[in-house]
Amino acid sequence: MSTPNQTKINIAVFASGNGSNAQNIIEYFNSSDSVGRVALIVCNKKDAYVLTRAEQLGVPAIVLSRAQLNDPQYILPILEKYNIDFIALAGFLLMIPSFLIERYEDRIVNIHPSLLPKYGGKGMYGHFIHEAVVEARESESGITIHKVNSSCDDGEIVFQTSINIAPDDTADDVEAKIHALEKMHYPRVIDEMLR
Ligand code: GAR
Repeated sequence: MSTPNQTKINIAVFASGNGSNAQNIIEYFNSSDSVGRVALIVCNKKDAYVLTRAEQLGVPAIVLSRAQLNDPQYILPILEKYNIDFIALAGFLLMIPSFLIERYEDRIVNIHPSLLPKYGGKGMYGHFIHEAVVEARESESGITIHKVNSSCDDGEIVFQTSINIAPDDTADDVEAKIHALEKMHYPRVIDEMLR
């Protein structure tokens, strides 16, 4: 029997783009006998596809600017209104302000589509990473799930796993393999962190 919503841990997923990870997380917590639920999507792009996914899945979403994200008087009341206990970044391209990191200490997690510390840091996101990995003729890549601190892609690593890259794999091929890994592991690792 699933836990009633009011006793579940409320997760906010922050996303900027396509939102496949956001959807995976929403569906995992909808369908599993889990301790959490996605209560809010936070997005900084008004035309991002993640907003369509949120609407289709019946999850409230807000769109905010970088200035609003960095304003405690704007963002904190919203997170309080939705009783947010935990934040999962899923392709979110803005830096998280330090007041949020302090407020949600050890409760903000990110997924990065490489084996950090390789291919991390400013400008390294999404498809750019897979292009750089293929360009460098790497024989493997993977995903890193880490806690968020005030430096880019630098928080404590919670989980890593890898895939092999075939010599003729394109960046699109690597991306497809990485998305499969993300689907398999990100919601599950969040679930473990909540327990
Ligand atoms: C995902 O591969 C995620 O790991 C990556 O962006 C993609 C978003 O896809 N995140 C980063 O690169 C963060 N630096 P999605 O919008 O379909 O979930």
